Amino acid sequence: MTENAVPPAAPGSGEDDEPQAGRAPVIRIPGISLVVLVGVSGCGKSTFARKHFRPTEVLSSDFFRAMVRDDENDQTATADAFDVLHFVARRRLLAGRLTVVDATNVRPAAREPLLALARECNVTPVAIVLDLPEDVCAERNRGRAGRQVPPHVVSQQHAQLHGGLGELGREGFRHVFVLDRAAAVDAATVVREPLWNERKADMSVPAAREYAEPAQPFLPEPGTEAPVRDDGLT
Ligand SMILES: Nc1ncnc2c1ncn2[C@@H]1O[C@H](COP(=O)(O)OP(=O)(O)O)[C@@H](O)[C@H]1O
Ligand SMILES: [Mg+2]
Repeated sequence: MTENAVPPAAPGSGEDDEPQAGRAPVIRIPGISLVVLVGVSGCGKSTFARKHFRPTEVLSSDFFRAMVRDDENDQTATADAFDVLHFVARRRLLAGRLTVVDATNVRPAAREPLLALARECNVTPVAIVLDLPEDVCAERNRGRAGRQVPPHVVSQQHAQLHGGLGELGREGFRHVFVLDRAAAVDAATVVREPLWNERKADMSVPAAREYAEPAQPFLPEPGTEAPVRDDGLT
């Protein structure tokens, strides 16, 4: 995996030569992010999203196709489905909710409106790329229940993905995590970094504490018990 997803090797361990070997990838993302999953049909995006994110955080193009046409396979619904998906993503991001876009996103033209949305809503755009070998994706496609994408479409998407893979940072993604083996996908964990306003309560510097909690007139000394509220409201 690229970027900062893999823990640093111990000094002198010699692991620098093979940064991915034997270590579980850790995907660190800001608490409010627009997470864009990228990968060909059948690579495992929806499975990955289910494993690491809440159902309400994941906006899937299949779900929105079904929403607008009662049929997640109806490709004529794609434009309408993305209109609604972008609308919901925007509302979520403006409300400060982490949002995951589960669609192939292999073409720059599909990613561009999502990057614009992240800029508009002032959240961090993160790409998580499931770049599994084409034969694995084709095999998974064959084995999936419901919609199966023809092999030539998988090949075409694979070529599109690789055409732009090196450009994701330049496109505007602040973090780009590439998982390029099935074992790495299965071992990966997603860690959400606390937001600034979640972190400030932990600060031990008095000036920062005062700034963080201006409404608290009697701040306990570090190491002492906080006053117990006894107003029946807790
Ligand atoms: N990590 C995995 N290991 C084994 N099979 C997987 C894994 N992830 C997905 N699959 C299988 O591959 C097929 C496609 O997965 P899915 O998550 O729907 O892909 P996508 O959303 O990228 O099209 C499904 O049948 C699923 O069960
Ligand atoms: Mg899917």
